[in-house]
Amino acid sequence: MKKKIMALIMAGVIAASLAACGGNSGAASTDSAAEEKTEEAAEEEAATEEAAAEEPTAEAGAVSEYLADGVLTVGTNPEFPPFEYMGDDGNPDGFDIALINAIGEKLGVDVVVESYNFNSLVESIGSKIDVSIAGMTVTEERKQAVDFSDSYYEAIQSVIVKKDSAIASADDLKGKSLGCQLGTTGDFIIQDIEGAENHQYDRGVDAVNDLLNDKVEAVIIDRNPAAVFQAQYPDDLKIISGEDFGFETELYAIAMPKGDTALADAINGALAELKADGTFDKLVEEYINE
Ligand code: ARG
Repeated sequence: MKKKIMALIMAGVIAASLAACGGNSGAASTDSAAEEKTEEAAEEEAATEEAAAEEPTAEAGAVSEYLADGVLTVGTNPEFPPFEYMGDDGNPDGFDIALINAIGEKLGVDVVVESYNFNSLVESIGSKIDVSIAGMTVTEERKQAVDFSDSYYEAIQSVIVKKDSAIASADDLKGKSLGCQLGTTGDFIIQDIEGAENHQYDRGVDAVNDLLNDKVEAVIIDRNPAAVFQAQYPDDLKIISGEDFGFETELYAIAMPKGDTALADAINGALAELKADGTFDKLVEEYINE
């Protein structure tokens, strides 16, 4: 991301207009002529700027600074299959990565994906990264710091327990030692459970490992990654739907810098096109329903 790009474009416009009307106002001119020319130049410059602001072709102001440099820097936390995980080639892969790449293609920008702890994604948006796609749930609290795109997926938290666990309802979670990924909605749910001991991990898979080791009695994590983790230990673990615990459904969306409507319009427009042309459903089939 290059915030300076707009300043550079404007500087270019001014320089060009000065060059066009300034002419050879140097050596040969008398002092007063030079002054006149300068005034003239200033007027024309102002007129050029006005015209640039009105002309639809010179709509540079409507292009987000985050897209103007041709590179969209995207933060994710590749510990959340099937939405994002480390691919065999050492680069993040998954549904979200494929989706943001398709969005970048629609917008004609290169997408660069960088890995962060989930907990530090929101605070990095608009500085270290342009946007974040990370199976991130839209919450009122996060909305204080970032804007969200139109949502692209509905989810709910699941509860993973050992096969022989007696945990089955919300009351059963009270006073238990529970695991989650730090800074996630699962974490926020545990914080509200009476008497629960909250074990927060940087990675959801670490919470699952401590469940297998009996260090925690349940893990609260989004439904799809829960299914992926449970499937690795089908003999030891089972999943209970969050609906049985009264958890609310959640909506995933791309988190963006606050107040950049040009960026939001561009991303939402691309998302709508991908839904309309079937690309979105194809990615759901490929990464989520396979
Ligand atoms: N949906 C949950 C939330 O927004 C968890 C997301 C975790 N994502 C990740 N890439 N680790 O808090």
